[in-house]
Amino acid sequence: MSKLVLSGLTKRYGSHAAVDTLDLTVESGHLVSLLGPSGCGKTTTLRLVSGFAVPDGGSISVAGQVVSSARGVVPPEKREMSMIFQSYALWPHLTVAENVAYGLKLRKLPRADIERRVQAMLDTMQLRRFEARYPAELSGGQQQRVGLARALVVEPKILLLDEPLSNLDASLREEMRHEIRRLHDRFHYTTIYVTHDQAEAMTTSDLIAVMRDGKIEQAGAPDDIYERPETEFVARFIGSTNILRGRRVGEHEADCDGLRLVCESGHWPEDGSAVVSIRPHRITLSGAADGSAPGTVERAIYLGAQRHYIVALDAGPKLQVLASSDVLAHEGERVGLTLPPAHCRALIR
Ligand SMILES: Nc1ncnc2c1ncn2[C@@H]1O[C@H](COP(=O)(O)OP(=O)(O)OP(=O)(O)O)[C@@H](O)[C@H]1O
Ligand SMILES: [Mg+2]
Repeated sequence: MSKLVLSGLTKRYGSHAAVDTLDLTVESGHLVSLLGPSGCGKTTTLRLVSGFAVPDGGSISVAGQVVSSARGVVPPEKREMSMIFQSYALWPHLTVAENVAYGLKLRKLPRADIERRVQAMLDTMQLRRFEARYPAELSGGQQQRVGLARALVVEPKILLLDEPLSNLDASLREEMRHEIRRLHDRFHYTTIYVTHDQAEAMTTSDLIAVMRDGKIEQAGAPDDIYERPETEFVARFIGSTNILRGRRVGEHEADCDGLRLVCESGHWPEDGSAVVSIRPHRITLSGAADGSAPGTVERAIYLGAQRHYIVALDAGPKLQVLASSDVLAHEGERVGLTLPPAHCRALIR
């Protein structure tokens, strides 16, 4: 099988480490997302894995064999990997069928085999009726599917996808997200999927690795990363959240501008400070007499299925609250918020 292990991986451009002592294990047959802001080193990591870039330190191994280290790399064409680049780079002068067949021709397979595998892949990707067209005659989503078909048809051991949905509109992106997961469930390629879209990562992945400044800041299952972020960076990057700052005043308690918060989970900074995250949908909004934290509704926004409130607490902080649309409060109204300890999480910076 094709377990992929990146250890201490480092790539410098001048004095800047684009990838900085990065450790990541992708179990055989798993799909791992690399999620992080622009410039954090996602594409560079994929280029290292695919063999297009040589690391300055650390190593990459596939099924126990080292394929990259500072001492040398196995060239891309000998790696049995397919990479889909951020711009999906189809050959403009080849038809859909010829684009899909390209990698098989390079491998000098018998013509009948190529024909059979290309046709099967065109069926899988629902591209049969476009097979004689050129890329310029296809929509963005169709081109994206050709890109995927071309990568999958060679039956790679490892599949590397660099923001494969970045050029699509919102509804097509959503459709293709599910498509990618469906294909993965069918073929089980060991996959690294690069994105900076958290919904995309949550839909497609077995494991999400959140990257910051060339390092993995936290890796875990989607619910783990969302419910149990360890740092403020991860909490903010995955979904929206309220961050409150203050000092630690008890084993599980923080004081943030006079607001006392009990945190059932998390980690506390060593310097006695406190950073607490609570997701907007975990806060309950009720009448002024209820709730532990009184305040005034500053903004009330109707979103259809939900209502979004910004509440200025008497204690000082302002909080975002997401409530069901039956919970009605008006701007200027006095309300009480409940901040359940089970959903208050202490974070390190
Ligand atoms: N060939 C290069 N020469 C010099 N610096 C580079 C080179 N390639 C990348 N970098 C730098 O390395 C850092 C990481 O770049 P990378 O392309 O890996 O980011 P990314 O996470 O893929 O970002 P994006 O989400 O914008 O695609 C950036 O600061 C970038 O400017
Ligand atoms: Mg990139």
